[in-house]
Amino acid sequence: MRGAYLEADLPKLRRIANPHISPMLESNQTLTDLADEARASLKAIFDVDSTLVAAAPGRVNLIGEHIDYCDGFVLPLAIERYIVIAARPNDSTIARVGTTGQETTEIDLTGNQEISEPKWSNYLRGVIQGFMNLNYQIPGFDAYIVSSVPLGAGLSSSAALECAFATLLEGLVDTVLPTAVKSLLAQKAEHDFAGVPCGIMDQFASAFGTKDQLILIDCRTGEPEMVPFSDPTLSIIVANTNVSHDLSDGEYGARRKDTEDGLTLIGKSSWRDVTMDDLYARQAEMGDRIFRRSRHIVTEIARTIEAVKAFKSGDFSNIGTLMEGSHRSLRDDFEVSCDELDLMVALAQEIGFEGGVLGARMTGGGFGGSSVTLCRTADVENIAAQMQERYLAQTGITPLLFATRPGIGAHLL
Ligand code: GLA
Repeated sequence: MRGAYLEADLPKLRRIANPHISPMLESNQTLTDLADEARASLKAIFDVDSTLVAAAPGRVNLIGEHIDYCDGFVLPLAIERYIVIAARPNDSTIARVGTTGQETTEIDLTGNQEISEPKWSNYLRGVIQGFMNLNYQIPGFDAYIVSSVPLGAGLSSSAALECAFATLLEGLVDTVLPTAVKSLLAQKAEHDFAGVPCGIMDQFASAFGTKDQLILIDCRTGEPEMVPFSDPTLSIIVANTNVSHDLSDGEYGARRKDTEDGLTLIGKSSWRDVTMDDLYARQAEMGDRIFRRSRHIVTEIARTIEAVKAFKSGDFSNIGTLMEGSHRSLRDDFEVSCDELDLMVALAQEIGFEGGVLGARMTGGGFGGSSVTLCRTADVENIAAQMQERYLAQTGITPLLFATRPGIGAHLL
């Protein structure tokens, strides 16, 4: 299951309601606490002390959705939610890996990797294969994984796992890969071992994440550029609807296919060169669905460029309109939202500028998952309280809300 690696072995649930009543804003566990937890679990399960601890964050995307695989621009940030892995080499050729709520899994490191059980281990197998393709010999090791990235919430827990594990392997083979190479290796693991034809946004965000910076990714050139997010009066609220839909069911791949078909009909080699006039010229041949998918791509690229200008100049007067436009386009043209996400976004938008909300939209792959709200720091508690109460009252589902600033990308602690 995309973005929900630990749930991979559970029966498929269309709706996963959180049974716990959470506080309005859940606090983010510190990296130190997570590392202590991983070390203690490694000791408890394998009776060894760790020599390496790797961490990588999940991500939230501010704007530029479903256009990373269309040569577009995307503007994510690493969140202050991490996957942390504590490990120690053993004297074998086997990786023994434990994680919360799952049986320990063993991976033979002597030959090429294959897709296997349990499903969550495939993210690890894919990353191991990536290192093997680069001719690294990985020594046997014991490892334990802990996570504060909500699962199945559209916050890229799987990219965080891939990037944390790749960083751990860098430590184990005593190398440091260029960050873009590590991100692409992680993305290939997702393609080949999890079967999701994702773009580059999630792995880039998890690997390149930098404190107080948004990551503008030009997906045509593969170049990241840091955009400062250091104004303490601005905050980001992530609201997990606690509704989870399975992207590897084929919806994600179907959207990708639609965009490829659209581009073929237009006859250009990159979406970056496509204008609305190109779409109107081919509208009849495209048919309604491909036309709407294509309109999303062209308009979302334009909105993202505008939003980056706002972040660079500090003039946020149109950011609400851009985020609202992005949400509407994802809902109506790209059809990747759902009722619960629409509600969560509407609740933030209703609070409005007077209440401290600058903009809100769905974030990530969609079909459930989370919304992102850009707001004034002074109003964070109040906004979160209203969103939580109203969402619960209207759906009967307790959402999970947390505030975040740009976190730190994949690294060894
Ligand atoms: C998922 C994919 C990303 C991106 C988003 C939508 O998170 O992994 O590559 O396509 O959906 O923007």
